[in-house]
Amino acid sequence: MSQYHADYTNFQVSISREQALKQLIESYEALCDGQNNWVSNLSNLSSLLWHCYKSLQLNINWAGFYVLDNNTTNKNEQQLILGPFQGKVACQLIPFGKGVCGTCASTLKTQVVKNVHEFPGHIACDGKTKSEIVVPIINQVANKCIGVIDIDCLDYDGFSQEIDGKYLEILARKIVETCKF
Ligand code: SME
Repeated sequence: MSQYHADYTNFQVSISREQALKQLIESYEALCDGQNNWVSNLSNLSSLLWHCYKSLQLNINWAGFYVLDNNTTNKNEQQLILGPFQGKVACQLIPFGKGVCGTCASTLKTQVVKNVHEFPGHIACDGKTKSEIVVPIINQVANKCIGVIDIDCLDYDGFSQEIDGKYLEILARKIVETCKF
């Protein structure tokens, strides 16, 4: 346990992306110990993601979550709603199947987008974003998407499936284990 909560956002500058993401997962586990409120846990996790990628010198532009909107009137048309995040304000509703986040939600597959301008239907919340990774948070029992992790970068080719995809998918499973939605 760190002395101060804020200490968890200190990542060493010289570590690899793999080491930093492992540290992020360990910090998340420590911070959500005894707490299953999804707003609270994902708020701290947005901060961890932001500071983790900043420490890796990645030109991160946005880091956060969209979750399944349970208040939609039309149950046949599922949509995501904006959750906790770090960065500038963003669009609040994304229908399943639309944009990178909606595609991730409907396919249940991680989307690593090296150039957002080449992704059909990409939703530009900020015209400066050039690449993006979106990872599904899946309720395995129902085989249903309950949210997504979304991270945007100001440079092309900001993320890889091999490292970012791998560790963010582990993180998504931890979120399912630790949060009550
Ligand atoms: N670009 C995303 C929308 C969310 S913002 O990037 C925060 C998309 O196409 O789904």
